[in-house]
Amino acid sequence: MNDFNTSSQVCSKRSVALASFERPIRAVVIGASGGIGNALVWALAQNNKVKCVQALSRAPITQNQLSVQSDIVDLGNENSIAASANRVANRIGEIDLIIVASGFLHDGSDFQPEKSLRALNTETLQRAFTINTIGPLLVAKHFLPLLNRESKSVFAALSARVGSIEDNRLGGWYGYRASKAALNMSIRNLAIELTRTHPFAICLALHPGTVDTKLSRPFARSVRHASLHDPVSCANNLLDVIDTVSLKNTGGFYAYDGTQIPY
Ligand SMILES: NC(=O)c1ccc[n+]([C@@H]2O[C@H](COP(=O)([O-])OP(=O)(O)OC[C@H]3O[C@@H](n4cnc5c(N)ncnc54)[C@H](OP(=O)(O)O)[C@@H]3O)[C@@H](O)[C@H]2O)c1
Repeated sequence: MNDFNTSSQVCSKRSVALASFERPIRAVVIGASGGIGNALVWALAQNNKVKCVQALSRAPITQNQLSVQSDIVDLGNENSIAASANRVANRIGEIDLIIVASGFLHDGSDFQPEKSLRALNTETLQRAFTINTIGPLLVAKHFLPLLNRESKSVFAALSARVGSIEDNRLGGWYGYRASKAALNMSIRNLAIELTRTHPFAICLALHPGTVDTKLSRPFARSVRHASLHDPVSCANNLLDVIDTVSLKNTGGFYAYDGTQIPY
């Protein structure tokens, strides 16, 4: 095992993931129908440390693992998020790990990320903020009270390196970049607030790398083959980071390889 856990890098080469959680893990994955979300559900369901996985998405997913329960949630509707949290609470009580793996970059047809100011419009900017920022925050509002208070627990939201203000050299993608930057700020806020009620809880913004999914496919041609991750490797990388982080990392923004990304 080779662990790094400094302020600038968290990364581990351990083969058994999730050993840092003291208890059998009750996990919730939001965006379970997505490329990365689905791979996370699968990877968690294979892990002996995981007791159950609540796989939440707009439409139920089909799966055949006994430890996985599929349920619905629409991040654009707070009532749906609250109802989903209530059902999860009734089924499993406390939660040890919440991963928000939903997101919006383009709609697959008419709307592509903005290359210039001329392309901005209210509707798609609002959609980006609704799904990438407000939805995860409302998930935090309704699900964080269910986090276990006695031992390590993690709330992780998938952000994107392009949401880093310091890292922005190319411009463009206004709605996506701005909504992920706002998500990052929200994660830092949540980390601060959570220390008051959940002393062992860790809040993270995670960059998954460029992963072969519906979201990235229109842009993946410009990515070298070696830099394009498959969803299952990505899920394992993210779980490895989640396993390696400790309280000193809460509120931070980390890439899939454990390196810290500047906000
Ligand atoms: N793929 C990459 O290269 C990459 C790079 C950097 C960051 N990320 C981030 O990683 C996360 C996952 O992306 P992905 O690549 O797995 O994308 P994806 O395959 O397109 O999955 C997106 C997920 O978001 C869900 N979603 C969208 N709107 C929703 C809503 N209103 N309520 C509930 N769920 C909603 C989708 O549900 P439906 O199936 O119902 O549409 C789907 O499950 C995103 O936050 C993305 O920004 C991805």
